[in-house]
Amino acid sequence: MIRIFLFFFCPLIVSTVPLPYAEWAHYHMVWLHNTHTNQVDIQAMFDSYLEHHIPVGIVNIDSRWETNFNTFIFDPEKFPNIRQMLDNIRGKGVHIVLWMTSFINIDSPNYQYAQEHGYLFNKTLKWWHGEGRLLDYFNDHAVNWWHSQIERLLDTVGPIHAFKADESDRYIEKLHDPRITWLKYRTAYYNDTFQLLRRLIGPDALIMSRPVDDNLEWSPREIVFMGWVGDEDGTYDGLKTALRYMLESGSRGYVGFGSDIGGYGTDSSAGPLGRTKELFLRWTAIGALSSFMENGGGGEHLPWKFDNETVDIYRSWVNLHYSLIPYLYTEGTKVALYQNGTLMLPCNDIECFLTHAYFLGPSVYVVPVLRDPTPKQTQLIWLPSSPTGKWISGFNASITHKARSFIFEDTSRLDRIPFYVRQGTLMPMYDLEQSQALDAYKFVLWGKITRRNQPLISSLYTRDGQEWILEFDFIRKHLITRFVHWYKSNDDQQLTTYTWQFCQYINEQPLCTSERQQLRDNSWIELKSLVYEKNLN
Ligand SMILES: *[C@@H]1O[C@H](CO)[C@@H](O)[C@H](O)[C@H]1NC(C)=O
Ligand SMILES: *[C@@H]1O[C@H](CO)[C@@H](O)[C@H](O)[C@H]1NC(C)=O
Ligand SMILES: *[C@@H]1O[C@H](CO)[C@@H](O)[C@H](O)[C@H]1NC(C)=O
Ligand SMILES: *[C@@H]1O[C@H](CO)[C@@H](O)[C@H](O)[C@H]1NC(C)=O
Ligand SMILES: *[C@@H]1O[C@H](CO)[C@@H](O)[C@H](O)[C@H]1NC(C)=O
Repeated sequence: MIRIFLFFFCPLIVSTVPLPYAEWAHYHMVWLHNTHTNQVDIQAMFDSYLEHHIPVGIVNIDSRWETNFNTFIFDPEKFPNIRQMLDNIRGKGVHIVLWMTSFINIDSPNYQYAQEHGYLFNKTLKWWHGEGRLLDYFNDHAVNWWHSQIERLLDTVGPIHAFKADESDRYIEKLHDPRITWLKYRTAYYNDTFQLLRRLIGPDALIMSRPVDDNLEWSPREIVFMGWVGDEDGTYDGLKTALRYMLESGSRGYVGFGSDIGGYGTDSSAGPLGRTKELFLRWTAIGALSSFMENGGGGEHLPWKFDNETVDIYRSWVNLHYSLIPYLYTEGTKVALYQNGTLMLPCNDIECFLTHAYFLGPSVYVVPVLRDPTPKQTQLIWLPSSPTGKWISGFNASITHKARSFIFEDTSRLDRIPFYVRQGTLMPMYDLEQSQALDAYKFVLWGKITRRNQPLISSLYTRDGQEWILEFDFIRKHLITRFVHWYKSNDDQQLTTYTWQFCQYINEQPLCTSERQQLRDNSWIELKSLVYEKNLN
């Protein structure tokens, strides 16, 4: 590793600037409703996911973790050994998210001090967790005092990787002060929360907050890469609403976001679990095929509380999502760098009207299924245009469809929803069979090579800030990796050694090179058996 470091990462090319956001914005996050915010339940949830071999990358501890809302002190009765619990979770490479808002309630231990020092806006407001006053983000002393409490929290419990900054900003409108608009207050609230954590823990810090919810814009676009679209019901109408807000978020230029799998609210007609297994799994598919896959809320969200089939299907979607992370992170980073795109864009063809079909990055196309499966069920699906004129079925690469055409797709299975990849996409993916540690890549060519593929080139951004080009050399039949740039990251000191192999997806079973290479400048693999389309000689 040291040798590679000296050879390929000359310090002159290490940037002092980090990438816009950290890769873990795409990891699987799990959390429990605030009625279960305590150490025993959260530890049991975490352990059970691992026992069921479902990868988890983020644990969110939702509201009611503190002595009172936004004291930033863990309630010692609910969390007797919080440091130990968090160290244990972080030790497994898992990131920690904590809930917050910008309210201090009148019965909170830090209220009187803040009030006496003029740190709060001068109006007590009823909000969804009691009665309190909003922090004045335009008073430097107030902000310093707020920061000192968060710094003390991190000193006490170790690194927190993000806050889930929940709704409080909009209550500023109730002050009826024309100088402090909602826009001004929310920009200050979300930006301050994000910038503070970046200062405290470095470029690994993120913020979880709302992009579009309730048809309104919440967070500033430049800082939220792990958005969620608020509280929807655990019904198909809820799923439609979540899709509507996600696609609206994408249209308005937010990069990455997701929704509470299964909905936050419950479905009163669905029995004791609060949602049906069918709805939960249809939504799991959308969660997996979103930028941010996260699961939690009211009622039951733990897959094993439904049945074993639910566990198996849920796990298969989490694994699929993880395999897509290098693609999501690369495409998300590109649009974040240039501030000119999103990872979830609605299909705006007239043929897509009311289908909620969308593009996940430039090369994947997803069609939600908004009903329970029934035997022999099919759905009419529009396939939009594709540079090579074709789409490859995401579940069976031997099936190719013509672009700009309607097809009937089988939607009778609960473990699948239709998704397609543009033929000719060179996609960086994680190879989870090779390594669960996310350090083995597959560079996958979807479909047969056509003339329209050339030149065939793709980028790759790694979680420790390396930028790479993957390029075909058609004359020598090589796939070559070229090092481009090294951005600052939290992992500067311990560079990861990645390996890769090449695969072509043209059959049910991938055709992969037996050779594996280390990801190095000018490392290459010879492609002896590339499959071309007939019209290409
Ligand atoms: C706060 O509100 C009270 C009651 O409405 C008012 O008397 C007081 O002057 C206000 N203080 C400030 C600093 O605006
Ligand atoms: C967010 O905060 C940073 C650092 O304080 C500042 O440079 C930036 O301009 C702020 N952005 C917005 C949108 O206010
Ligand atoms: C579900 O899976 C568990 C663990 O693999 C097994 O012990 C149990 O028998 C299964 N239950 C059913 C109903 O198949
Ligand atoms: C965004 O801008 C970059 C740099 O100008 C360009 O290469 C890229 O194609 C643009 N992407 C989109 C989605 O418009
Ligand atoms: C994949 O598609 C082929 C047709 O191209 C079909 O024969 C095969 O059964 C499919 N495999 C699965 C697992 O659905």
